[in-house]
Amino acid sequence: MAKNLVVIGTQWGDEGKGKIVDWLTDHAEGVVRFQGGHNAGHTLVIGQGSNQKEYKLNLVPSGIIRKNVDCFIGNGVVLDIEHLLHEIKTLENDGIEVKSRLFVSPGCPLILKHHVALDQAREAKREAKIGTTGKGIGPAYEDKVARRSLRVYDLLNPDSFKKKLLEVMDYHNFVLQHYLKQDPIDVNQQFDLSMTHAEKIKPYLADVSQKLYEANAKNKNLLFEGAQGSLLDIDHGTYPYVTSSNCVSGQAAAGAGVGPHMLHYILGITKAYTTRVGGGPFPSELDIESEGAPGNQMSTKGKEIGTVTKRKRRCGWFDAAALKRSAMINSISGLCITKLDVLDGIKKIEICVGYELDGKKIDLLPLGADQVERCKPILIEVDGWSENTFGVKSWDDLPKNAQQYLKTLEKLCEVPIHVVSTGPERDETIVLKHPFE
Ligand code: IMP
Repeated sequence: MAKNLVVIGTQWGDEGKGKIVDWLTDHAEGVVRFQGGHNAGHTLVIGQGSNQKEYKLNLVPSGIIRKNVDCFIGNGVVLDIEHLLHEIKTLENDGIEVKSRLFVSPGCPLILKHHVALDQAREAKREAKIGTTGKGIGPAYEDKVARRSLRVYDLLNPDSFKKKLLEVMDYHNFVLQHYLKQDPIDVNQQFDLSMTHAEKIKPYLADVSQKLYEANAKNKNLLFEGAQGSLLDIDHGTYPYVTSSNCVSGQAAAGAGVGPHMLHYILGITKAYTTRVGGGPFPSELDIESEGAPGNQMSTKGKEIGTVTKRKRRCGWFDAAALKRSAMINSISGLCITKLDVLDGIKKIEICVGYELDGKKIDLLPLGADQVERCKPILIEVDGWSENTFGVKSWDDLPKNAQQYLKTLEKLCEVPIHVVSTGPERDETIVLKHPFE
C-alpha cells in the first residue's frame, strides 16, 4: 500500500491536478506544495447544483478545502506573502479554517516588488517571449541560486533584513533603471510592507521538514502537490521556454525537505490532449481558431483559458513521445487521464507518436527548445466516439472507442492508466487502481 503520494503534471501544466489532489485528499492527512509559487492555478469544484462552489488556489495546497487535513508550503516554493495573505483571507471569508492547518517553511525565498518589476520588464524587452506569468517567479529563483535571497525567516530580524534588503535592492534597482529603463522600487516602502507581512506570517511558520517527518512516523498519509508540468521543468523541459523551478517528482523531496524514501507512488496527471500557455515549441499543436476544427473544440469545450493570466491556451493532439520523456524523468507509477470528454464527437483523433528530427525518426521528446523546434510530428489516427463521456463513473460505461483510445495511450507511453477523470466533481472519476491502495 502506498502511503505518501506525489502528484505531478506530465505535460506543460494545467492537466487538472487540483481536482485530483482534492479527490485523493480523503485518504491523506497532509498536503504539501514543494515548488513554484503563485504562478500556479489550481481550480477545484466542490458540491452540486446551487451548492456548487469553485475555488481557485495559487499557493495554498488544495487540501485546505478538506477539514482535518494539514497543509504545508515547503522551502522549494517562492513566496509572495501579500498574495498568500489574500488567499488565506478569501478562504477564511468562506468559513474555511486556515490558521491552525497551514504551515509555511521559514526557508522559502521571498518574492518582493523588484522581482515582479524585473520579470515584467525583461519579458517586455525579450524578442522571443517566454510568456511568463509576470509574478516575479523567475527573478526570485535567480536570487535564490545567486545566494542573495531574503528568506521568510529573515523577516523575523528587522535590522539584518533591512541591511540585506538595501544591498540586494541597490543591485536590482541599478538593473531596473539603467538596463531596463524602468522606475526604481522604493526601498523604504518595500521594507515597511515586509515588516507588516512579518507580523502576519509569523503564526504560520513551522519547520516543515520536521513536521512531515513526524507525520510520516505517525503513519499519516501525505500528498505532495506539484505545480506546472514536467515539460516546463527548468532542467528537463523545453529550455528556455520553461518555468524557473524543477517540477519533476524528485523535487518533492528537495522542495519539502524530506528524503526520497518518503515518496512511495508517483501519479502523473495527463490531459487526454495537450495544451500549453506562453511561448515555446509544441510539435503537436493545432489551429484553435477555425470553428469546428479539433483544436477549436479543445479550446472551447475544454475552456482552455489560463487560470492565472487569462490567456488562451494553445491546444494540440496527445503527444506520446513527450509523455515517454515525462514518464522517464518522474518514475511515474500510474497515469490519471483528465478531460477525456473534450474529445467526444471528434471523428478521427490523432496521436503524436514521435518526430522527424533532422531526417531521423525518434520516439522520445528531445531536450531543450532548439531541437524540439525542429521536430515534425509523426501522427497516427484512431477512431473517435460520438457518445458523451462527461461524468462517466465506470470503465465499462465508456464507449468502446474511448476505451481503445486510452489503451493505445497506455501502450504508447509505457505507463499504466490508474485513474480517468471525467468531470470536475470528486465523484466524476473512474478508478482502475487507487493510488493509495
Ligand atoms: P513563469 O513560471 O511565470 O516564469 O512562466 C514561465 C512559463 O511557464 C510560461 O510559459 C508560463 O506560461 C508557464 N507557466 C507557469 N506557471 C504555469 C502553470 O501553472 N500552468 C501552465 N503554465 C505555466
